[in-house]
Order: sequence, then structure tokens, then C-alpha cells
Amino acid sequence: MCSVVGYIGKNKSRDTVLDGLTRLEYRGYDSAGFACIDSETKHLVVAKKIGQLSNLKQSLKNQSSDGFLSLGHTRWATHGAATEQNAHPHVDCTSSLAVVHNGIIENHTSLKKILEHEDHAFKTETDSEVLAHLFEQYTIDEKMPPLQAMQKMVEQLEGAYAFCIISEHYPDSLFIARKGSPLCIGLGEGEMFVGSDPLAFTDKTNRVLFLPEKSYALVHKDGYALYDFSGNVLSVQSQIVDTSWIAGEKGDHEHYMLKEIYEQKHAIDKTVRFFQSIHTTIFDYLGITQEELQNLESITFLGCGTSAHAGKLAQFFFEQKAGIQTRCELASEFRHKTFFKQKNHLYIAISQSGETADTLEAIRLVQEHGQATLALTNVASSTLVRECDGFLLTQAGPEIAVASTKAFSTQLAALYWLAHCVAYHKKSISHKQFQESETELFTTAEILENVIEQYKHEIMMDCAPFYKKYKEFIFIGRHNSFPFAEEAALKLKEISYVFAQAYPAGELKHGPLALVDEFLPVVIFSHPDPVIYQKLLSNAQEIKARKGHIIVFALEHQKELLSLAHRAFIIPAVPSLLFPLAMTGIMQFFCYALAKVSGHAIDKPRNLAKSVTVE
Ligand code: G6P
Repeated sequence: MCSVVGYIGKNKSRDTVLDGLTRLEYRGYDSAGFACIDSETKHLVVAKKIGQLSNLKQSLKNQSSDGFLSLGHTRWATHGAATEQNAHPHVDCTSSLAVVHNGIIENHTSLKKILEHEDHAFKTETDSEVLAHLFEQYTIDEKMPPLQAMQKMVEQLEGAYAFCIISEHYPDSLFIARKGSPLCIGLGEGEMFVGSDPLAFTDKTNRVLFLPEKSYALVHKDGYALYDFSGNVLSVQSQIVDTSWIAGEKGDHEHYMLKEIYEQKHAIDKTVRFFQSIHTTIFDYLGITQEELQNLESITFLGCGTSAHAGKLAQFFFEQKAGIQTRCELASEFRHKTFFKQKNHLYIAISQSGETADTLEAIRLVQEHGQATLALTNVASSTLVRECDGFLLTQAGPEIAVASTKAFSTQLAALYWLAHCVAYHKKSISHKQFQESETELFTTAEILENVIEQYKHEIMMDCAPFYKKYKEFIFIGRHNSFPFAEEAALKLKEISYVFAQAYPAGELKHGPLALVDEFLPVVIFSHPDPVIYQKLLSNAQEIKARKGHIIVFALEHQKELLSLAHRAFIIPAVPSLLFPLAMTGIMQFFCYALAKVSGHAIDKPRNLAKSVTVE
């Protein structure tokens, strides 16, 4: 998704800004740009390129322009195609000021009309360009002081935004504002950094000021002045962020995704051990009291993509283990539905990044209704952590590949642990049973890894080349293996661009069976429960009778199902609620191998972004 980087200070900053963009590159983008007030000419210089950041770096190699005030941006197209013209930074009519923006200015059409009436000439199809012309209108045409201009701007803008402006008329100032989209300032000595994520500058400073919602700031090399949207001065504490959040290297792995698939056992272990370590102080994290937890009657999970699938799987943990009625809502849909205020209810937002706009907006809606919110995220410094009443952190470490792997498995481990923690505090299980659940997680993590080891050669050398020719897949499951099938279908779509659809196995005969023939592989995720297994077996027979090509992930003793399969992967026994977690590694590896034989950009799939900061 779009990333914003800015710098003001004692040093020439082109490399710093480009390095910052490089660190945020994994989020996905389709063009990149840089602007600075050139230290020699004192004029604004702008460079933009479509495609990889390396194209921008290459184009700048032959230019000497550099400055003490600069901006950078990677754009993921929303309004207007991914062209050089539409790439940020955007400039005003006089080309003396430049803007980079994340988010969407929803009223850009009406603002553009007003500005065109004032003779501003627009050059792009973007919503963001209005920001450059608005600042020009106020500071150049109407000669308004820049801070007054900023306030007038934020008063009029609708939508979500994090933007930064530099102007050759104010070489000692960087102007920034945020509403809905994240933005922070890295506090250095005689230099200040700005980023949509602290990762942009954590190699330079770990002192970070997160801009509060609806605020703007004037940043200069030795400090900043922060205001709310009414123009009142704000005083906010800076934080020290964990700099280990600098993206790790790929090591010997060809892709980050592969590295992250292999890291899962360790990540699950680390997450469970971390949760064990905070158990005695858990109420400092949950945002609800022990009494409120004991009275808890229902839970709603909110999330998007893979995180929503973790929520759907965790429904079974909470209902079965803690006796709590649980549902999972897609955050992007939730806010358009009728809100029913519920007593003794907890909303748990699940998000790897903690920055997904849909999830944040859903949580804000919940908070407007005064209901309790808990974040489960992988990023301690995220907006979700700051905005929810409580937070729990998975310990997956940085996840760089767009397709989520270890974030998903650690979310499952965390939620399994939490379900047992709730059950324990509600006195539904004993302390011993709670401890056993932790052992189950350690064992399952080991199985997850062993299964990959067992099949990785076969999948890479035999399976992937064979399945490369198939252009569509169906994934089916029952009970908790259905949301797992949904995650598998998502994984395959994301990285291999093969159409994959998940169905609850029982629904097959209500329509999708019409698609089945020898050209359509159907992947069946089995279930340890004998009754559910029998039903799945019947579904497999229905597919077989239509000559469907069957791939099965099942237990060793599920002989009948295994015998119907063209290809089978045997998963060792684990508690049925954790069976999806045991299958997670091999499922991801299978999808990875299919994408690899097709030669796709696995870590950064086309059109996708790691952190989706627009709704
Ligand atoms: C994007 C990513 C997905 C991810 C989803 C939710 O769509 O491409 O891989 O699952 O966002 O992200 P979150 O950070 O909220 O878990």
C-alpha cells in the first residue's frame, strides 16, 4: 500500500528517504517518487517512475539534486492508473511545492472544481493533487501563513489521509497532517524523520511521536509543533519503539514467504511462551477486568483477509472451550451493517499489521457505541494497539511477504491460548487443562514443521510441476476445516494468480458440483471427528463419481478417503481444533510451490499490498 517518507535536518537526505521507502517496499506499490528542495538551486526538484523503486533510484543516479528537506512516496493506485503522471509527489501550478499523500480525499471532485474556478490547472487523475493546489491557493495566492493554511485545509478535507508538504518558500519547514491514516515523526538530533510507519527510519532513531488522530504539525530540524484540527496546541509523549522491527534478511531462502513458512514453529513457540509470561498480569492487557471476563457472554472477531480466516477458525475455540457464543465479521462489511449493542460482549480485532483501514474503521464504530475492544496484532507500535482498550501481541516477528503465513499461525496459537485462558477464568477448565492446551500448541507447532519437511521435496519436484497446468481449484472442508479451506484458496489466489474457490463440503451438491470434471482439482481438508469425516467421505465420493481430480489432506487412519485421492498428504493426529494449524505449513508450502513453478513475484504479488491502509 502507499508509503510516505519525509526528512528535514542537518544532512542531505535523498539516500535516507530512498532507504526509508526501500524498507516499506514490501507493502506493495506500483510507482515511486522523490522530491527535495535542492540545496544548491533552492528550488523544488521532483522525480517519479512507475514500477519498482529501483527504477526511481536508477533515474536519480544521473542527477545530483539533493537537499535538507525532502519527501518520498510509493503509490498503490486507487484514483487514476499507475502512471508516472499520477505518481506522487504532486506539485502545484508553480512547481514550487510538493505533496505526498496516503489515503483517499473523498471530496476531491468538489474541491477540484473550486480550485479550477480559481485557475488552478490539474495534471493528474488523482484525488491527492488537490492537496498541492489547496496549499498553493492559501499560501501563495492568498498569502496566508502556512499553519493557518494547514488548518483551513484539514477543515475542508473529507476522507482519510496522511500527507506531507514541502515548499521552496518554507525551506525550514515540513508540514504534515493525518486523519484516519497513520503518520509519525522520528525524533533525531538536529534532524527529523517522517513516515507512515516507523520502520521508515528505525535505523536512524527509535524515538517516535505518533501523530494523534485528526492532528497536523509543523516539523523543523530541531522539533515540531503539533495541533488538533481546531488549531489548539497538542502535547503528546514520544515513545521508544523496538528497532528489532527492521526487516530481516532472506538468508538462504529464495523468498521471504518461504523463510516465513519455515519460521512458524519458532514463531508459535515464542508466542505461546510470551503469553505464558504475561498470564499473571493478563488483565493489564485485555482492557477488561477479571469480573467482566467472567461475565463475558459473546465475542465478535473483526478482521480482513487472512486475519479474518484466523477469526473464523477461532470461533470454534471459544465456543467449544469457553462456551462463549462467537462470530467473525469481515471488517469491511461490518461497518455497513446494523449495529446491535450487546451486554457482556467483547470485540476482538485481528490484524497482522494493526494498520488495516477497514479493521480500524470497524473498531472505531464499535467504540462509538461504547463497547469493549481488544486488539490482536503483530505490531506493538500499530494504530490498532493505540486505539483499542486492550491489546495482545503475537510474536511472529516481521512478516515481509504479502501473503501471510507465520502471522496466521501465530494468530491461531494466540487465540487458542486465549480461549483456554477465558475458559480457565470462567472456571470451565482446570489449571491443568489450561497447561495441557499450551503443550498441545507446542506439539502442533512441531508437527506443522515436520509435515513440511516430510513432503517438501515431493511437492516441489513432482506436485507443483504437475498442477501447473490447472487454472482453477476448488477447496473444501467441513466444520473448522472449511475456514481453513478459505485460507488455502486465498493463499493460492494471492501468489499463483490461479482461480481458487472454497466451499463448505456440504454445499458442493447445491451448485459447485456442476463444475467438477477431470480438469478441476478439488482439494479436501479432512477432519479428525468421525462423524464429520464420514460426511466428507461422502462428498469425496460425489466428486469421484464425476471424475474430479482429488487432493486430500487427512489422517493416516482415514484410509477410505485417502484411497479416493489422486494425491494425498498424511497429517499426524492432533486435537481436532488444532488440525488446521497442523496442516497450515504444508498447505502454504503447496501454494508457494505452485506459484514458484509459474515464476511469479511471490513476495510482492501483482495488485496486492501488505498493509491496506485505504478502505
Ligand atoms: C491485505 C494482505 C493480506 C492480509 C490482509 C489483512 O489484504 O494482502 O495478506 O491478510 O491485508 O491484513 P492485516 O495486517 O490486517 O492482518
